[in-house]
Order: sequence, then structure tokens, then C-alpha cells
Amino acid sequence: MAILIFFFITISFIAPSSSSLPEHHFHFTKTGLRHNTSSQPQQYIEISRPLSFTNLPPSCTFHILTHDFAYTMGLPPVSASYSPPANCSWTHVALQFNVSSKGEQYDRIAAIWLDGAELLRTSTAEPTDDGIFWTVTKDVTRYSSILVNENISLSVMMENLVNDVYTGVYQVNISFLYYNSKKMDVSLSNSYNRKMKPDNEIEKPADMIIPISGNGSEGFWFRIMNESDLHGQSVIIPKNTYKAVIEIYVSSHGYDEFWYTNPPDSYIQMNNLTTKRGHGSYREVLVNIDRMLVGSVIPFPVIFTGGINPMYWGPLVSIGAFDLPSYDIDLTPYLGLLLDRQAHFLELGVNDSIPFWLVGANLHLWVDNNCVLPCEVQAKVIDFGTPKFNIERSSSFLGLDGSFEVEIKRKSEISYWVNSTTGKLTTIIKRELKFKNEMNFYLSGTEKKIKQKVEEEIEVSVLSNSGGTISKTKVKRKFPLTITSKTISSMENDTTLMLSDLDHEWKEKKKLDGGPSTSLKNRQQCNGWVVVQGRNVLHGGATTQQTYSYDNEADCYSRTVSAANGKLMNDTANILCAAAPLKFGSFSAL
Ligand SMILES: *[C@@H]1O[C@H](CO)[C@@H](O)[C@H](O)[C@H]1NC(C)=O
Ligand SMILES: *[C@@H]1O[C@H](CO)[C@@H](O)[C@H](O)[C@H]1NC(C)=O
Ligand SMILES: *[C@@H]1O[C@H](CO)[C@@H](O)[C@H](O)[C@H]1NC(C)=O
Ligand SMILES: *[C@@H]1O[C@H](CO)[C@@H](O)[C@H](O)[C@H]1NC(C)=O
Ligand SMILES: *[C@@H]1O[C@H](CO)[C@@H](O)[C@H](O)[C@H]1NC(C)=O
Ligand SMILES: *[C@@H]1O[C@H](CO)[C@@H](O)[C@H](O)[C@H]1NC(C)=O
Ligand SMILES: *[C@@H]1O[C@H](CO)[C@@H](O)[C@H](O)[C@H]1NC(C)=O
Ligand SMILES: *[C@@H]1O[C@H](CO)[C@@H](O)[C@H](O)[C@H]1NC(C)=O
Ligand SMILES: *[C@@H]1O[C@H](CO)[C@@H](O)[C@H](O)[C@H]1NC(C)=O
Ligand SMILES: *[C@@H]1O[C@H](CO)[C@@H](O)[C@H](O)[C@H]1NC(C)=O
Ligand SMILES: *[C@@H]1O[C@H](CO)[C@@H](O)[C@H](O)[C@H]1NC(C)=O
Ligand SMILES: *[C@@H]1O[C@H](CO)[C@@H](O)[C@H](O)[C@H]1NC(C)=O
Repeated sequence: MAILIFFFITISFIAPSSSSLPEHHFHFTKTGLRHNTSSQPQQYIEISRPLSFTNLPPSCTFHILTHDFAYTMGLPPVSASYSPPANCSWTHVALQFNVSSKGEQYDRIAAIWLDGAELLRTSTAEPTDDGIFWTVTKDVTRYSSILVNENISLSVMMENLVNDVYTGVYQVNISFLYYNSKKMDVSLSNSYNRKMKPDNEIEKPADMIIPISGNGSEGFWFRIMNESDLHGQSVIIPKNTYKAVIEIYVSSHGYDEFWYTNPPDSYIQMNNLTTKRGHGSYREVLVNIDRMLVGSVIPFPVIFTGGINPMYWGPLVSIGAFDLPSYDIDLTPYLGLLLDRQAHFLELGVNDSIPFWLVGANLHLWVDNNCVLPCEVQAKVIDFGTPKFNIERSSSFLGLDGSFEVEIKRKSEISYWVNSTTGKLTTIIKRELKFKNEMNFYLSGTEKKIKQKVEEEIEVSVLSNSGGTISKTKVKRKFPLTITSKTISSMENDTTLMLSDLDHEWKEKKKLDGGPSTSLKNRQQCNGWVVVQGRNVLHGGATTQQTYSYDNEADCYSRTVSAANGKLMNDTANILCAAAPLKFGSFSAL
């Protein structure tokens, strides 16, 4: 059966046979696009709120690295020597990562490490003949315990390859900007404004950070190929540690780049498909201590700039593309285990993964400075509870059409106490994680609808020695995602027309009992079409609409932006609560 469709760009398309389903279904470059080269280089952006402490000029600036990433495939990271600027007093630090590029190039993954600890995971935008440029400014104050060290190494990994076709070189400048918030209005110094994380608690940076990372020969991340490919490191923590948090950086690549769209292996086998993008659509990053599961993350699906329809991502890149979120897991409940002066193995894996994932972590430790040896902090688990994990899968298909569903649920409750010089505090952490992915394939698999939901809720109650509640915090996080796509292939020209819609969002709410609440909503809705040949986009059109709103009662920011066919159409920012009285000192520091 052959359906002939005449599209407005006067190309005829013929419905595909199964074998002609494009292998690289979702990842493209704009190499075939005709550019209007009479234009200026264009600035690309990822929408986020401005950092609160960057209102004043920095006290010091350290331009640490300038490098052109051209032929860096297979090479170790580029490095530079770091020492904090002399005679500079600072309370906050921002990392500034500037990039410019011109020509044609794939989107690339990159990361920056300082002394082996990851500071930034980022991906590049695909350049144009006119040239593009962008800046990522990230609050790196939480890495202060590393930023004060002298003669350490900054390493940057960005594997790129340049040839006659892919001419884009990524020109990178990296700087550290040091700010002294003590010089500012006191109210400003109170909030750390980390992107995507509504954290209005006055959290002081960790006293010590231990990287859980690779040896650096191929970057400090671990390359995870499958679910049994676990990587980690032994750690011995100081005896006076009273709090431990593991921060996880993760990105998915290769056959798992679009893991949330992968059908089960049975579908691929039964249809004799050659694609390796399978193994179903559930993935979860797992953290173990001595082979015991202590935490997990279902990552937000960050879409790189060649993803789905590359026309979506100019000049507004996908949520997280320039500053991939990292995820914190509180390991304080396990201090009772870790505080025995013995080495313990911290390990990372990705459940159900196929090649490949880049995963790394930083272990943040807070020590009790009033407790010097032989004083020791004591900690003990009171009750591990009975962690529940449940997974259900269903799949029904006939030929290339069908529906697939996978659903997981995790539930845990753990209580423990920590006795430091501030007293003996008991904490109860309740966590619930829900994940659901539904896929429907129609019209011989040429039409797909993918719907995914990730929901996590964490409740932390801190009790005093006498049993009174000191604080209760609730965090809710939701990552809804919907993708629909239709493909119509033409045998004649080996081209495929792809129409798609995307709706994804990062939603987060944090509520401190009797205290302020914080909310963040960051949503993108995209719609467009492309004509692709292999992995190249020949023609296309797209619109992207983004709404961002952040509110922590003291500090609000909202922005609505839209782009169409590579141009910014509308950009309205509001600092809604500018008139409201600034609150500070009202958060109970734990
Ligand atoms: C190229 O850009 C110029 C100036 O921005 C514009 O006037 C012209 O219409 C554009 N041409 C095409 C084919 O888009
Ligand atoms: C350090 O800064 C202070 C105040 O800005 C200045 O008085 C002093 O001379 C500086 N010291 C050095 C070694 O630069
Ligand atoms: C990086 O970009 C920012 C914003 O465009 C600019 O202010 C800064 O000077 C740039 N830094 C470097 C080292 O190029
Ligand atoms: C990097 O810094 C150099 C020197 O200051 C400047 O010429 C160049 O434009 C900068 N590039 C970017 C991408 O900021
Ligand atoms: C760092 O290196 C410089 C130059 O090699 C040296 O003078 C200085 O003592 C070193 N500092 C530390 C803390 O090792
Ligand atoms: C570093 O790790 C890589 C990848 O696991 C391995 O191939 C290499 O041999 C290691 N190098 C060193 C010096 O340990
Ligand atoms: C998982 O990946 C590792 C590393 O590439 C490999 O050695 C191992 O054989 C793989 N295991 C399975 C079950 O595929
Ligand atoms: C898959 O291949 C087998 C063996 O070549 C064949 O019998 C079967 O009909 C094929 N199935 C489909 C759906 O093409
Ligand atoms: C990993 O996923 C499988 C299902 O694919 C499940 O049976 C297993 O329990 C999961 N592992 C962990 C540690 O939760
Ligand atoms: C708590 O620690 C203090 C010393 O820091 C010690 O005197 C006290 O006995 C400890 N209490 C418990 C219950 O371990
Ligand atoms: C089809 O291919 C020919 C030859 O490569 C090319 O000239 C023509 O523009 C193509 N048509 C489309 C719609 O891409
Ligand atoms: C920009 O946004 C305003 C307010 O939402 C709307 O009225 C206007 O039509 C938009 N303009 C474009 C070009 O989208």
C-alpha cells in the first residue's frame, strides 16, 4: 500500500515499509538547512532566573581558560591550573562558560571538573553559518570547599570532530566570578539562588567534597553501558561528619539518548527491526553503599539541541540543555554506617540501561567544627522501614502498531539520629517515587504518542531529643512529558517528513511547615516539522513557547518567551514581588 501525500513544499512522500523506519529517529543536525548569511551571530539562551548575588560587580574575576574545541574526540580533558585569586574576599562564586561557534556541527556533551569534582554538565547548541554564541552562568558557591584550594586542576571535556562537512569549532572561555555579598544589602546574601532548585533554606556549603568520579583519562564521568556496569569509589569520611549529601550528574546518550521513547526488545525482535534503541522506557540511576541501595533518581529528560526537531531549539534551548540539573540525595541516614573509619564503596549504576550514560557524583560532607578529635559524631539508624519497589509492564502490539506501558513505584521511610555538639536530633525521611510511561504507535509505527510522568515526594521531619518537632519540610517534584510524532518517508529522495509536538515541564514545590514555601514551574511547548535526509535537516519550521515562574515569597521571577523558526518572537520578564517586603532570617536553619 502506498499513500501519496503532496505537502506544501512540493515533495511527495510514500508510506514506509518497516525496514525504512529511520534508525536515527530523533537526533539530527541542521547541516542541510539553507541559511540566510546576511545576519549577525545569534545569541542562544536557556531560560532561568538571574542569580541574586550578581547584582553587584564581582570583587574579582579569574579568566581561567580559553580553548578551541575542534579535534578533541578520544582525547583526555583540556586542563588549566586553578588557585583562588589572591587578596580577594568573597562569599559567592559564579562559573561563567562562554561559547561561540560558526558553521555546521553536532550538539556535543561537555563537563567541567575542579579537582575531579563536577561543577557543570552542559551540552552545546548546534551552530549556524551566521554563527551563534551563548553564556552559561552557574552559582558554584556550594563547591566553596574546593574553590579555596590552591594549585588544583580545572578539566574540561568536550569531544568534537571537525571535517569538510562538520566545520563548527566550539570556542570556549571559562571564568570564575567572585562576589562578596557582605558588601551588599543583607537581604540579598540570604538566598542561594541555585537554578531549578527552590532552596530558600540557608544552606551553608559543605566543608568537604569527595568526588565519586572516574580517573580522568576520558573525563571524570563514568561511562555506563548496561545495568550491571556499576562504577564507584571507596571513601573514608571524617569522624566528625554530621551531614552527607550525594549530588548526581547524569546525561543519556547513544541508544539511550531518548530512553523514554524506547520500545521493549520484544517489539524490535518480532518486527525484525535493526534499531538498537530498545529495552523499554524505564531507566533509573541507582546509588549503592557497599552494594546496598540507598537512593535513586529518575532524571529529567534533557533534550539536546539536535533532539526531536532541531528547529525547536533556536535560539531557546531545551530545559537543562546548557545547565543540566544535578540531583541531591541525602545520605545522612547512613552516617551510622559510614562513621566507622572504614572504607565504604559508593557506587552508581543505571537500571535497565543500554549504551550509554555518563554519570558522576560529588559527596558533600558537613563536619562538626566544635567536635575535634577524640570527639566523634555518633549516628544510628532507628528504623530502615521496609522499602517498597514495584514495577509493572504491559505491552500489546500487532506488527508495528501497539501500546506499551511501564509503571514503577518506590516508597520508603527511614528514621535515624545524629548526635553532634548541637545535640541529638532525630530525623524521619519519607519518600515516594512514581513513574509512568505510556507509548502508543499507530499507522505502522509512523505515528507515535509518548506520555511520561515522574513524581517524587520527600518529607523530612526533624525531632528534638525530647520528641518535639523542630521542623518539617515537604518537597514535591514533577516532570511531565508528552511527545507526539508522525513520519512520512519518501523512497524517491530518501527523505522523511517528521511532524512533532513536545510538551515538557519541571515543576517543584517546597514547603517548610510554618515557614515560607518555594515553587518553580518551567515549561516548554513546541510544535514543528522537518524534512530530514539521514541525520540532516533539509527544511523545517517550528515554534517554541516557554513559561518560567519562580516564587519563594521573598523573591519572584517570571518569564514568558516564544520563538519561531529560529527567531525570538516575544520575551517578557517580570520580577513580580519586587514591591513585596523582603523577608530574611525567618527560615529556621537546621
Ligand atoms: C535574509 O535576511 C534579510 C535581512 O534580515 C531579509 O531581509 C531577507 O528577507 C532574508 N532572506 C531570506 C530568504 O530569508
Ligand atoms: C589586599 O587588599 C587590601 C585592601 O583592598 C590592601 O590594602 C592590601 O594592600 C592588599 N594586599 C596585597 C598583598 O595585595
Ligand atoms: C562571557 O559572556 C558574558 C556575557 O555575554 C560577558 O559579559 C563576559 O565578558 C564574557 N567573558 C569572557 C571571558 O569572554
Ligand atoms: C573569549 O575571550 C576572547 C578574549 O577575551 C574574546 O576575544 C572572545 O570573543 C571570547 N569568546 C567568547 C565565546 O566569549
Ligand atoms: C602553588 O604553586 C606555586 C607555584 O608553583 C607555589 O609557589 C605555591 O607554593 C603553591 N601553593 C601550594 C599551596 O602548594
Ligand atoms: C582510567 O579509566 C579508563 C576507563 O575505565 C581505563 O581504560 C584506563 O586504563 C584508566 N587509566 C588509569 C591510569 O587508571
Ligand atoms: C555490561 O557492560 C560492561 C562494560 O562495557 C561489559 O563488560 C559487560 O559484559 C556488559 N554486561 C552485559 C550483561 O551486557
Ligand atoms: C522476521 O523475519 C523472520 C525470519 O526471516 C520472518 O519469518 C518473519 O516473517 C519476519 N517478520 C516480519 C514482521 O517481518
Ligand atoms: C531494576 O529494574 C528491574 C526491572 O527491570 C527490577 O526488577 C529491579 O528490582 C530494579 N533494581 C533495583 C535495585 O531496584
Ligand atoms: C552525644 O554526644 C555527646 C558529646 O558530643 C556525649 O556526651 C553524649 O553522651 C552523646 N549522646 C548520645 C546519646 O550518644
Ligand atoms: C531530491 O534530491 C535531489 C538530488 O539530490 C535534490 O536536488 C532535490 O532538492 C531533493 N529534493 C528534496 C525535496 O530534498
Ligand atoms: C507577545 O505576547 C503578548 C502578550 O502575551 C501577545 O499579546 C502578543 O501577541 C505576543 N506577540 C507575539 C509576536 O507572539
